[in-house]
Amino acid sequence: MDYIETFQLTPEEAQAEVTTQLAKMMELRDPTCTAATIEEAKAGLTEAELAEFDETTVDTQSCPKVYASEGEALFNMGYDDGFAGGAYSCGRCHTKGWSYGEKQEDGGGAFGPPLSNVLNQFPGNSLGPQQQVDFVCNGSDQGIRYGQNGQGTGRMPGYCITPGYKINPDNGEVGIDPKDTGTADSGAMMSQEQVRAIVEYERSLARD
Ligand code: HEC
Repeated sequence: MDYIETFQLTPEEAQAEVTTQLAKMMELRDPTCTAATIEEAKAGLTEAELAEFDETTVDTQSCPKVYASEGEALFNMGYDDGFAGGAYSCGRCHTKGWSYGEKQEDGGGAFGPPLSNVLNQFPGNSLGPQQQVDFVCNGSDQGIRYGQNGQGTGRMPGYCITPGYKINPDNGEVGIDPKDTGTADSGAMMSQEQVRAIVEYERSLARD
């Protein structure tokens, strides 16, 4: 159902939203540290001063960043603030507890399989990442094999294509959408570059 909301946006609009949200996430600081720093700044203030106090002026730059890379942030897009209902994220399917704010290990597997096998599924230092980007960009199709031994069910959405179908919100029927479905090169929800950043992150998880 996420498609309905998401694909009311043009690919350019969707990718621009992702870019803006990503920039915000890359500045995000550890919430526990941030809260403690704000408390510290408030300590010893009078009641009158507290009433005037603007928490957004507290310098929290010394707190560690929540996301170490753009790929990690994209993988978790919407986890912290519900952005787009998590529609852009990978974690909502590939990480246990993601949807209710108690995520376990990134890519540990939930509705989607664990991502610990991607170096075997898409092997090779240059071919592997490209094949993995193509897979994430196009998504899976029912009964179509992917990678070394993947068996697609059609449940993995394609992030760089606009699906050629739409769901009728009145009766839930899936119909054919005559609109140009676009190509993975031009991107849809995400650009190729954004997917590339996620794939890099996923491959780093698999190396641990
Ligand atoms: C709606 C749930 C869902 C979302 C969201 C989702 N996936 Fe998947 N993913 C799956 C399923 C299910 C599979 C297994 C293949 C199949 O069933 O067709 C899969 C398979 C994969 C695989 C292959 C793993 C292997 O070893 O075979 C990779 C890599 C992957 N997803 C990456 C991603 C990335 C990156 C994102 C975010 C950009 C993402 N997925 C978002 C459901 C999802």
